[in-house]
Amino acid sequence: MSHELAEVQSPDDWKDYHFLRRTVLWEAKGRHNYNENHPDERLDANHPLLLRLHGRPIGAVRLDEAGSCSGVVRLVSIALAAQRSGHGSMLSSLTEAYARRLGITTLLVNSAPDAVGFYEKMGWKKDIWDESELRGLASDCIQMTKEIGAETIK
Ligand SMILES: CC(C)(COP(=O)(O)OP(=O)(O)OC[C@H]1O[C@@H](n2cnc3c(N)ncnc32)[C@H](O)[C@@H]1OP(=O)(O)O)[C@@H](O)C(=O)NCCC(=O)NCCS
Repeated sequence: MSHELAEVQSPDDWKDYHFLRRTVLWEAKGRHNYNENHPDERLDANHPLLLRLHGRPIGAVRLDEAGSCSGVVRLVSIALAAQRSGHGSMLSSLTEAYARRLGITTLLVNSAPDAVGFYEKMGWKKDIWDESELRGLASDCIQMTKEIGAETIK
């Protein structure tokens, strides 16, 4: 399979990114208040990313630099029809490689309760990293972390 993790740049990239997040993380869960214009999307330290398979968008994630060599993985979504086929696992390893290139060595996540098993498979551990994040949409989330090590220079 030919996967690529790309930065969201063009207007079409933004459409694909929002479509994936809205359908997977909002509409499929019965929520209807997705906000495409949230200011966090455009902060310099935040990196909206699209996973493509053979050039077609199949997943989305945002990686937020959080200081002290850490980064928060937010709103991970694999297209509804493509879940449980190994794409989340690819998104995970490509996101880690991207994070290492930014100097990030520890990843943090607010995991939806039913995604904890996925993160555990990817080597994450339950670990409270900032309780103040556990409110609103994230109020029932489980905080987890993963040490990814530094980038090796070849
Ligand atoms: C969670 C999600 C990102 C996983 O992506 P995916 O493409 O379905 O996962 P993969 O097929 O790559 O699975 C990798 C491994 O995790 C397991 N897995 C996947 N989803 C799982 C889940 N919800 N619970 C337990 N295990 C899970 C798979 O069985 C697989 O295990 P294996 O390697 O032993 O076969 C995706 O299903 C998704 O977008 N879900 C809805 C949104 C969501 O919950 N996002 C997380 C927000 S924090």
